[in-house]
Amino acid sequence: MTNNIESYLVENRFFEPSPSFSKKAYVSSLSQYEELYRRSIEDPETFWAELASELLVWHKKWHTVLEWEEPFAKWFVGGKLNVSENCLDRHLHDGRRNKAALIWEGEPGEKRTITYQQLHREVCKLANVLKRNGAKRGDRIIIYMPMCPEAAIAMLACTRIGAIHSVVFGGFSSEAIKDRIHDCNATIVITADGGYRRGAIVPLKQSVDNALKNNRQVHRVIVFRRANNQIQLEPGRDVWWHEEMEKAAAFCPPESMDAEDPLYILYTSGSTGKPKGVLHTTAGYLLGAAATTKYVFDLRDEDVYWCTADIGWVTGHSYIVYGPLCLGATVVMYEGAPNWPKPDRFWKLIEEHGVTIFYTAPTAIRAFMRWGDKWPNQHNLSSLRLLGSVGEPINPEAWMWYHTVIGNSRCPIVDTWWQTETGAIMLTPLPGATPLKPGTATLPFFGVDAAVVDEQGETVPPNAGGKLVIRKPWPSMVRNIWGDPDRFKKQYWSEIKGNYFTGDGARRDEDGYFWIVGRIDDVLNVAGHRLGTSEIESALVSHPAVAEAAVVGRPDPMKGQAVVAFVTLKEGEPHTKELREALRQHVGEVIGPIAKPDDVRFAEALPKTRSGKIMRRLLKEIAAGGQVTGDTTTLEDLNVLAQLSGNET
Ligand code: PRX
Repeated sequence: MTNNIESYLVENRFFEPSPSFSKKAYVSSLSQYEELYRRSIEDPETFWAELASELLVWHKKWHTVLEWEEPFAKWFVGGKLNVSENCLDRHLHDGRRNKAALIWEGEPGEKRTITYQQLHREVCKLANVLKRNGAKRGDRIIIYMPMCPEAAIAMLACTRIGAIHSVVFGGFSSEAIKDRIHDCNATIVITADGGYRRGAIVPLKQSVDNALKNNRQVHRVIVFRRANNQIQLEPGRDVWWHEEMEKAAAFCPPESMDAEDPLYILYTSGSTGKPKGVLHTTAGYLLGAAATTKYVFDLRDEDVYWCTADIGWVTGHSYIVYGPLCLGATVVMYEGAPNWPKPDRFWKLIEEHGVTIFYTAPTAIRAFMRWGDKWPNQHNLSSLRLLGSVGEPINPEAWMWYHTVIGNSRCPIVDTWWQTETGAIMLTPLPGATPLKPGTATLPFFGVDAAVVDEQGETVPPNAGGKLVIRKPWPSMVRNIWGDPDRFKKQYWSEIKGNYFTGDGARRDEDGYFWIVGRIDDVLNVAGHRLGTSEIESALVSHPAVAEAAVVGRPDPMKGQAVVAFVTLKEGEPHTKELREALRQHVGEVIGPIAKPDDVRFAEALPKTRSGKIMRRLLKEIAAGGQVTGDTTTLEDLNVLAQLSGNET
C-alpha cells in the first residue's frame, strides 16, 4: 500500500476522566458512550428524531426524518420551525428570561450584559427594521461586523424573517465582500462604522463602501455605530442602525420555516480558487449545533461559556450563537486581540467573568506558550472546568501546556475535529466518558460514521494512514455549494464513492481514536514514504526551544521531496546552527530518520489565514525557492511572507 500515509508518532500519555466530572456528566462512562453511539449508527433516524423532539421547538412535526439521494440530504422533511424562536422565545418561558445570554467586552474595556429578554427584543426590532427596508424571506443579507452583540443580533434577526445570512469576517478586505455579495446576489449589507483590533480602529464601513462601488444589487446598508470613526452615509442607500431601531416595534412574529429552508451561506476559501459558499439549512444544522454543544461541552445552566472564535467563522456560528443560545447558555463574547493591551487579556476575562468552559484554537494556545506562563499565572483561573480546542491538530506539547498551565491538570480537554462543511463537531471526546490522549480528537460523535480508508474506499488497518471519510449523512451536513451543485459533488462526493471526503488524512489507533495527520494536499512524499505534516510538526514542537512549526515538501531529485521545516522559536531562544542540527536530530529520535528535516529555517512568524491556520501552500512555494504566486487574499499578515522569502538562515 505505498499510496497510504505512514504514521510514526507514538503518544503514550493517557488521562482518564475524573470521577467527580463523570459523576455529573450527561454521558458518564465509555460504555455509556459506546451504547449510545451504537444506537445512533444502527438507527440514526430514530436517534436524531428523539433528539430533535428533545432539543428543538417546532411549529409542525416532520413526516420523514431523512430523505437521502446522494449527495443531497433532506432532514426532518415536512417539519416547520424558526431558529431565532428556538434561541430566544423559548427561554422567555423556561425560567431564563432574565438570565444573561451574552456577556460582552469590547477591546477598549466596555462591558455589557444582555439578558434573553433583552436579546429577544433587540432581535425582534432589527427583524422589523429589515422588513421595513425591504428584506424578504429567502433574500441574502451580508453581515460584516466587529465582534459585538449586534453581530449575533443581526444573524438572529435574519433567521427571524427567513432571510439567509452570509457573515463575512470583519478582517477581510473589500474584495472579499465584493466577491461574496456577487456570488450570493445579496441585496442588504449590515455593518458597523468600525471595530477595535489591537488598539486601532478597523474601518469596516469604508471597506463596504469600496466593495459597493458600481454595485447596483445592494439597495440598503444598515450601519451600527460602534467606534465613532468618521464615515460617509450614502443618501438613499445607507441608514443608521440606531435611528431605524427607534422606529421599530418590539415584537416580530417568527417566520415559520421549512426544516430544509436555507439558513446561511458561509464562504470558505478552500486551498485554491474561488471561495465556496457552504450552504446550511435550518433544522438539521440547529440540531447538530445544539446536540454537540450539550454533550461535548457538557453544558449546564450555571456555566459561563466562552468560545474565542470570530463570528465570521463557522465556529462562531455554531458555538457562539446557534448551539449555546438554543440551549439557553450564558455566552461570553470579546471583541479584540488576545494580547491587548497585554498578553494576559484572555486570562483576565476568564477571571473577571468566572468563565467555566473555554474553547479556543491551537494557534492561540501556541502563541500563549510562546508568550510565557507568567501571563496566565497572574490570574485565578479556578472557575474553569472544561477546555476545548478546534481548527488544527493540537500538538501534544501544546495540549500538555493547555492541560497543566491553563487547566491546572484538572480540566478535561475536548479536542474537537470538524469543518465548515460538517456544521457541527464530528470527532471529539465526551468529557465525562472518554479517556484522553494528547493530540487526538479521539472518537466520533453520535451518528457520525467516520472511517479512514485507502484509495479504493477500504478501511485501513489500525495505525495505517489514509483518507478521513464520513460514510453516512448527518443532520448538520453541508447541503450544497451555493449556485454550484457540480462543484459540490466533485469536491466532496467523488473522491471515495458513496462517502463524504473530508480532505484530511488520518489514522485510527488501536483504541479506535482518530489522529488527524494533516490535509491530504499537504502530504509529503519522501523517498517513497507518504508522511502527514502534523506528526513532524508535533515532533518539532515537543523540543523545548520551539513554539510553532510548519513542515512542507520541496522537490528533490533524489528523494522526490525533501522535508523543509519552518520553525518559530520561544522567546529568547537563539537562531543558531547548533539548534538547527539539534532539531533535526530530535525529529529523527521522536519519529525516525525518514522524517528528519533536510532544511530547518527559523522564522519570526508563520504565514497564517485569518482564522489562524498555517498556510503551507505558500511555504511550499518559498521552500521551492520561488516567488509566492498563489492567492494570498486570506493571509493575515503579508509582512510575514516578505520576511520568510528573504530569510537565508
Ligand atoms: O483540517 C481540519 C482542520 O480544519 C479543517 C476545517 O477547517 P474549517 O472549515 O475552517 O473549520 C474550522 C473549524 C471547525 C479540517 O478539515 N481541523 C479542524 N479541527 C481540527 C482540525 N484538525 C485537527 N484537529 C482538529 N481538532
